[in-house]
Amino acid sequence: MPHRGSCCLTLLLAVLAYLPAHSQAPANVFSSGGVHPVTLKSDASTATCNECHGNISKGKYVHTALEMGCTNCHRVQNENGVTRVTLVAPATELCLTCHLLSEDKVLHRPYKMGDCVVCHSPHASDFPEHTWVAHQDICLGCHARSRLKVDEAKKTVTVPWGVTLTFDQVKGWQYLNLNATLTANHPVEGHPVSGPNTPLGPKAPPISCLSCHSPHASNVVYLLPKLPPDPAMPLCKTCGLCSDCHKRMFAN
Ligand code: HEC
Ligand code: HEC
Ligand code: HEC
Ligand code: HEC
Ligand code: HEC
Ligand code: HEC
Ligand code: HEC
Repeated sequence: MPHRGSCCLTLLLAVLAYLPAHSQAPANVFSSGGVHPVTLKSDASTATCNECHGNISKGKYVHTALEMGCTNCHRVQNENGVTRVTLVAPATELCLTCHLLSEDKVLHRPYKMGDCVVCHSPHASDFPEHTWVAHQDICLGCHARSRLKVDEAKKTVTVPWGVTLTFDQVKGWQYLNLNATLTANHPVEGHPVSGPNTPLGPKAPPISCLSCHSPHASNVVYLLPKLPPDPAMPLCKTCGLCSDCHKRMFAN
């Protein structure tokens, strides 16, 4: 069964045994910017930025905001020939200048903290919703003990795609006690967290963390879409979530 709490951090001798394909997040993903190595006019256009930073918008999934121009998020300041490119708002507030934070009762901590860029590239990536890595690898990056690199001295954790967070940013963090291939043993022993959705047949989309959880928010516990089973009755017939897939198993 899963283990809870930050006590687990001390147990970690995390080795990144397996690194999935990914785009590397810049190390300064939370910085608000600094001295720009090239002098720019303070009214430099998006076209100018793209002469040097064209790669930023390359990827299968491009953030719709890029069409609106770089200066919706970056401010160029030129003082005495020194150019600084800063963010128009602190990194943890920037995304919420255009997106609304969910009003649901349960918020996932990195979402609630405004740490959107932990999971999403602000620009583009090869994964849907321009996340840094595939959705399942995003979840496993923090919730599988073998993937998260913990630095006890600095009190930081580093996810496989390179973003480093403080212990406070991942307060309450829980890892799942999954099998070695990170494909099963949650929410009940032996239950798959990836692979074919056999109860619903070959045409159903494969099972994943997002089959049962929202990455952002929900109105019931554990970021579930519906009420979970009664803990005393894990195979209860009334829990909507389980019977979405286990129609036959839970019938009568
Ligand atoms: C003449 C080339 C050139 C132009 C034009 C240019 N940059 Fe840069 N920029 C660079 C180089 C070189 C770096 C350092 C290496 C890197 O991070 O790619 C850099 C770094 C940056 C950084 C990271 C470092 C920092 O200052 O925080 C940001 C953000 C940035 N540029 C934004 C912009 C924006 C926004 C524009 C348009 C307003 C722009 N740049 C125009 C060449 C350019
Ligand atoms: C200048 C306004 C603006 C800002 C700031 C902004 N977004 Fe967006 N974003 C949009 C628009 C417009 C869309 C497309 C419509 C929608 O889905 O709401 C969008 C869509 C998205 C999507 C869905 C996929 C897509 O790109 O269409 C994601 C994911 C996203 N934004 C993440 C972020 C993150 C993370 C940040 C902060 C780094 C952020 N946004 C900041 C305007 C913005
Ligand atoms: C939705 C907001 C948003 C938009 C639009 C946006 N950026 Fe960024 N950008 C960010 C954030 C957040 C960071 C990470 C903080 C940092 O490193 O300063 C960043 C970092 C960067 C960096 C440095 C790190 C890296 O990835 O190399 C460059 C260069 C950059 N942006 C260029 C651009 C250019 C060019 C455009 C327009 C084509 C653009 N950005 C549009 C939010 C945005
Ligand atoms: C823990 C990782 C994670 C964090 C943190 C996160 N997201 Fe997401 N986000 C995702 C994933 C995964 C999806 C795709 C959801 C799906 O396909 O069901 C997504 C989808 C989205 C979408 C498109 C669908 C929708 O819900 O409208 C937007 C916009 C978005 N995120 C914005 C944000 C903003 C803004 C923040 C910060 C306040 C944020 N995200 C924080 C992982 C994250
Ligand atoms: C940056 C690290 C990080 C990533 C990435 C991440 N999580 Fe979390 N998650 C946390 C932390 C920290 C908590 C504990 C605080 C809380 O309850 O929100 C948590 C808690 C949870 C919880 C329990 C929530 C509750 O109310 O008890 C669920 C479920 C969850 N995450 C699912 C996911 C899923 C699904 C993904 C992939 C979309 C994901 N997480 C990605 C850090 C992360
Ligand atoms: C078949 C549905 C299902 C899938 C798939 C699933 N979860 Fe859960 N998850 C649950 C339920 C139900 C709970 C709450 C009860 C429990 O813990 O047994 C839960 C609880 C959690 C918690 C809170 C801690 C805990 O175990 O009590 C975290 C964190 C979490 N899930 C993350 C994930 C991640 C990450 C994935 C993908 C690797 C995932 N879940 C896949 C159903 C699911
Ligand atoms: C997204 C679809 C999905 C959801 C939702 C789901 N399951 Fe499953 N479940 C599966 C799949 C796939 C298997 C593996 C079936 C196989 O390969 O035989 C499975 C297997 C099981 C098994 C093992 C059955 C056996 O044949 O031994 C149990 C027990 C189980 N699920 C309980 C639950 C409970 C309890 C819930 C609600 C918390 C739940 N499941 C929610 C897809 C789902």
